[in-house]
Amino acid sequence: MTRLSAGRVSTVQEKQDGHEIRTIWLDDANDAAVVIDQTLLPGETRELRLRTPADFYDAIIRLAVRGAPAIGIAAAYGVYLAVKRLDTFDRSSFRKAVDGHCDYLNSSRPTAVNLKWALDRMKSVLERNIDKPVSELKSLLLLECESIAREDAEMCDAIGRATMALLRPGMGVLTHCNAGRLATGGIGTATAGIYLAEREGYGLRVYCDETRPLLQGARLTAYELSRAGTDTTLICDNMASFVMSKGLIDIVFTGCDRVAANGDIANKIGTLSVAISAKQYGIPFYICAPSSTVDFGCPSGEGIPIEERAGSEVTSLWYDKPIAPDGIKVRNPAFDVTPAEFITGIITEKGIVSPPYENNLRGALDKA
Ligand code: MRU
Repeated sequence: MTRLSAGRVSTVQEKQDGHEIRTIWLDDANDAAVVIDQTLLPGETRELRLRTPADFYDAIIRLAVRGAPAIGIAAAYGVYLAVKRLDTFDRSSFRKAVDGHCDYLNSSRPTAVNLKWALDRMKSVLERNIDKPVSELKSLLLLECESIAREDAEMCDAIGRATMALLRPGMGVLTHCNAGRLATGGIGTATAGIYLAEREGYGLRVYCDETRPLLQGARLTAYELSRAGTDTTLICDNMASFVMSKGLIDIVFTGCDRVAANGDIANKIGTLSVAISAKQYGIPFYICAPSSTVDFGCPSGEGIPIEERAGSEVTSLWYDKPIAPDGIKVRNPAFDVTPAEFITGIITEKGIVSPPYENNLRGALDKA
């Protein structure tokens, strides 16, 4: 991860007109996908052109592109671009190449199931059409990755519309990490209702947890929302309970990386503390996630793999000098699991799902 270079703003900033941040798009004519390098925000807005599978893997693992839906979209583009110019008429070797790239990109980050979901879609479009010529298979892969991106934007809009039912003018909202435009192909998940409500002049007060250690709340959510004109207040993670105790928060929205069949969810480290505090103060705690985040193959939160990242992200990433003794033992789990009992509702593109999640999620998402 690159350090911030505060104050430097590139010309790309102008292209990111108004608050309509574009996180990721395909530049098919130039054989690339373009992402805004999120490691540099908010100081610098720089486009990164990803071409090879290794480019995508690296961008995902170092969080240049991040957020569960966005890494799924990126990986799908990565697979398409990897095989687009493959010089073969042999369907079986073409399919083998696609499968290999899917497995490689799927190994970049373990927790967000959207990554596997998107790659499975790329594999399955091939499976369904394997009797077609390779040239046609390439076109189908292109259509599929574009659909994944477009549908994600539509799911964000639908989550926003469902969330609006919970919002009233002047409310105080707390969010953790970044589940906004920068994490998706659209207006975000946790931020979707905020964007729609602000368009209607709700005048919400949004509190962003800074989200140690990688500061997605400070660097990305505070950037996104303040840029969009929302009344945004940044707090350190350990201030959330105090702010709640002062009656400043009416509702909590966070995104998530995986919803287990029983409604337990994995999201950015620190989400569990927010949920526990919200319950203590009687504040509704909602998870906002598209159906691509739901993993019915995972019975409970215990089965969700949790990514462990380098200790240096905790001890030295943002500082000129390390803030901890040399050689200190460090744990750096990137996500935690919030049990279903702390979650007031899960907002998907199909609407708000209430407990008991075991039955209601399946019912709402129409899956057996
Ligand atoms: O490590 P990150 O920055 O990719 O973690 C992101 C989150 O935890 C988000 O809340 C989650 O992916 C949902 S994004 C709509």
